[in-house]
Amino acid sequence: VVPRAQELPLAGRHVIVTSGPTHEPIDPVRYIANRSSGAQGTAIAAALRDLGARVSFVTGPAEAPPPSGVEVIRVQTAREMREAVEAALPADAAVMAAAVADWQVVNARDSKIKKDGSGRLPVLEFAENPDILRWIGGLDEGRPDLVVGFAAETDDVVAHATAKRLKKGADWIVANDVRPETGIMGGAENAVTLITGAGAEEWPRMDKSEVARLLASRIADTLAEFLPSETE
Ligand code: CTP
Ligand code: CA
Repeated sequence: VVPRAQELPLAGRHVIVTSGPTHEPIDPVRYIANRSSGAQGTAIAAALRDLGARVSFVTGPAEAPPPSGVEVIRVQTAREMREAVEAALPADAAVMAAAVADWQVVNARDSKIKKDGSGRLPVLEFAENPDILRWIGGLDEGRPDLVVGFAAETDDVVAHATAKRLKKGADWIVANDVRPETGIMGGAENAVTLITGAGAEEWPRMDKSEVARLLASRIADTLAEFLPSETE
């Protein structure tokens, strides 16, 4: 039996999902970025869609193709990502799965930097990028009812993620252990700990699509306690 749209738990709800890396240009042919396949964010957007949500999928240049049935907003830089998220508001929930570059190159060039043969090396100057999660988590007006961040950590995963939850004003943090020996970065599986106001829940290692389904259903349960942000 295929459930009718109005019976889906996230029908009438709008969720913004950020995904993938951002690229911060150095010159027209070079950039700096974080490692990110975009697989987990893509799976979350698909799982939210399957529960009936309208999804705004704000994605950096990722390997994974975006899911069908969502609104895809493609961006390159962190600044563009922040602007796209702002333009997509209001939303009932925001899930910030993107691996946003922490710094942009302020002396980026419009033309390709050439090796000049003298052995002199280019010097890059950095400025901090806008923190999109911290911004949306701290909004006084128009903050989504549920703000979910991610934390990719290599040490003291729960402690760092718990501190991030408070620092960024997020309701939940999905923490993952990205030590190379876990094989999680770039792999099909994820092992996450969900940090909420009530504490840390360690989930067993499972497929990224399964993590996405569980997270989407938790989001649906929580949003059921709030009125929709958009009324028709
Ligand atoms: N994030 C964001 N904008 C940024 C940096 C991070 O929205 N400029 C979001 C990520 O999408 C993620 C969360 O913040 O949901 C945590 O990202 P992370 O890189 O782990 O945290 P940082 O505060 O950047 O700390 P770190 O120094 O550990 O990189
Ligand atoms: Ca970071």
